[in-house]
Amino acid sequence: MKIAVLAGDGIGPEVTREAVRVLEALRLPGMVLFEGDVGGAAYKRHGHPLPAETLELVRTCDAILFGAVGDPDCDNLERHLRPEQAILGLRKEMGLFANLRPAKLFKGLEDASALRPEVASAIDLLIVRELNGDVYFGEKGMRTLPDGRRQGWDMMAYAEDEVRRIAHVGFKAAMGRARRLCSVDKANVLETSQLWRDVVIEVAREYPEVELSHMYVDNAAMQLVRNPGQFDVVVTGNLFGDILSDQASMCVGSIGLLASASLSQGTLGLYEPIHGSAPDIAGQGKANPLATILSAAMLLRHSLHLDAEASRIEAAVAKALADGVRGGDLGGTMGTAAIGDAVLERLT
Ligand code: NAI
Ligand code: MG
Repeated sequence: MKIAVLAGDGIGPEVTREAVRVLEALRLPGMVLFEGDVGGAAYKRHGHPLPAETLELVRTCDAILFGAVGDPDCDNLERHLRPEQAILGLRKEMGLFANLRPAKLFKGLEDASALRPEVASAIDLLIVRELNGDVYFGEKGMRTLPDGRRQGWDMMAYAEDEVRRIAHVGFKAAMGRARRLCSVDKANVLETSQLWRDVVIEVAREYPEVELSHMYVDNAAMQLVRNPGQFDVVVTGNLFGDILSDQASMCVGSIGLLASASLSQGTLGLYEPIHGSAPDIAGQGKANPLATILSAAMLLRHSLHLDAEASRIEAAVAKALADGVRGGDLGGTMGTAAIGDAVLERLT
């Protein structure tokens, strides 16, 4: 069980440290952690945000625990050298096309949600976000038009096989949950979305037990705050999934709580909080590490098939929150390490 730990930039190392402490406390026989450089930190040491050494490391590992990348010092670098290219590069290089982002309201956080408690308490959803296509990976550029105006462009494109494989992930996830799948697109305007919708409908024939619905992304954004309890599994493209999952995080209290798994067709998986490097609070010991600790639990469940150990971590986090453990993001005063300690104390 080889795990690559890629802490990255900003609060990445701070939150990853706590998740590693939790993993180590489980004393899993045969589990070995290896550290690698990514992001701005890697650029500063190796001249590249995703150095060859790091790619070699992850190729020999069963799973990746990832912190966050993004460094204001690197804002003026050419795009291919920016820290964010490390996570995009890993997703593409390792074929990590399926991003699972669960959002559920923890007991005791009813008042921390941006929504009314009775609306928030119904939230138990899973966003399945496609991660290898869309505008993030389409052709892009900056050009000067004949009349002298600058124009930036990013191409949104999906091939049918890319939609099909993420649709299968969505339907299979729904089969293991409440058997409702909502496919989110913008088929009224975008050709990409028309294809998306057609393919999802084709795939649905293989899952007659799942109730399929379709929603335009603007309506989905509204429904997510109006009545989030209506959603079980949401399947959507890369850009829409990115935005909707940040929105979902505020519905359950904080972005510092949302974990994710990025899966490939093979065995390798990458696990990371949905938040970024949070330069505004980096280095202050203030970041909430729970999203990363919960990502470590997803790693145990999805890559190492250690369900009981994953549940132990999730139960300890739930217990800590129920006992009133709160960082600044949830209106409390506890720092990163103190929150990590609180979880460790509750690991049974
Ligand atoms: P962000 O997610 O880093 O921060 C947004 C807001 O949430 C900030 O106010 C931050 O302080 C707060 N926040 C985030 N995580 C928190 C935590 N664990 N505890 C408490 N508060 C938390 O998004 P932002 O500011 O848009 O991006 C910052 C940098 O991160 C950028 O360079 C961006 O490109 C990068 N980024 C990287 C991602 C990744 O590595 N997968 C994902 C998203 C952004
Ligand atoms: Mg995001």
